[in-house]
Amino acid sequence: MEGPDIISITEISKDELKNLFNDTKKIKEELRHERALNYLEGYVMATAFFEPSTRTKLSFQVAMLKMGGSFIDLPPYEASSRAKGENFADTIRMLDSYADVIVIRHRLEGAARFAAEIAESPVINGGDGTRDHPTQAMIDLYTIFEEKTKLEGLSVGVLGDLKYGRAAKSFTLGISKFEPRIIYLISPPQLAPLDDLKEELDKMNTDYEEVSDLRDVIGELEVLYVTRIQKERFPDPLEYERVKGSYRVDLDLLSEAKDDLMILHPLPRVDELSLEVDNTHYAKYFTQASNGVPVRMALLKRVLKG
Ligand code: NCD
Repeated sequence: MEGPDIISITEISKDELKNLFNDTKKIKEELRHERALNYLEGYVMATAFFEPSTRTKLSFQVAMLKMGGSFIDLPPYEASSRAKGENFADTIRMLDSYADVIVIRHRLEGAARFAAEIAESPVINGGDGTRDHPTQAMIDLYTIFEEKTKLEGLSVGVLGDLKYGRAAKSFTLGISKFEPRIIYLISPPQLAPLDDLKEELDKMNTDYEEVSDLRDVIGELEVLYVTRIQKERFPDPLEYERVKGSYRVDLDLLSEAKDDLMILHPLPRVDELSLEVDNTHYAKYFTQASNGVPVRMALLKRVLKG
């Protein structure tokens, strides 16, 4: 990896990702024979989550335990010194002095990079603001690699909140490294991607097209990445009310899908992905979620041991 901090998927090369995926594959193989490994014995990870999380925090913690290490977790606001007025930088300094690696999630874009400037230990971004969620993108890409045995040249659809969704954006930027045939950016007009994402795709020479209805392209896709509307990020609740429930993947829509389509979703889902899809061979989102552990095991090993 380029430097010890993991802040954005854009800063990680295709070769580094491939190495990480090979390590992940080996770790998965080792876990078939052993309940836990000991590569990170004696190492401590701090999780500092200033925003809600289920999968990211728990899978990082399990990953560290399964590598033989341990973790400390920053208590929620009311139970930590933040409630006494302690500032962000001092909180990070403390975690830095107790732990060998810090995983951080924050509402504000740039929080992870700021933490990395303060901390001497490596910082891993567990999702900050509306753009970066690098480890989610690693898991998404690994799941495609495992399923399709390749990442290059795919026809990909990214559906949902392309304005506020950091998982959708990080995935789009991540898969772009592998020269997709095309990426369809599928969203209601109110949730269309802003210029910054499109400019980054242009810089990478990625072929993409903006589409407002999944039905128009579903028959072409090999990968469909579904995301929820990021209700909590809307500056105006009325804006959310106008767009909620505006798209949904269900069996009717999938009747036009190619047989080798795989559906990913970073989770949590709300109403954009019908429960009936879970029982189809397209559904790969629970496999994707479970890959969170071995991918993060491989990542922690690379970050802590090089
Ligand atoms: C995502 C996030 O936090 O950005 N969650 C996750 O880590 N799987 C997606 C989301 O909240 O919609």
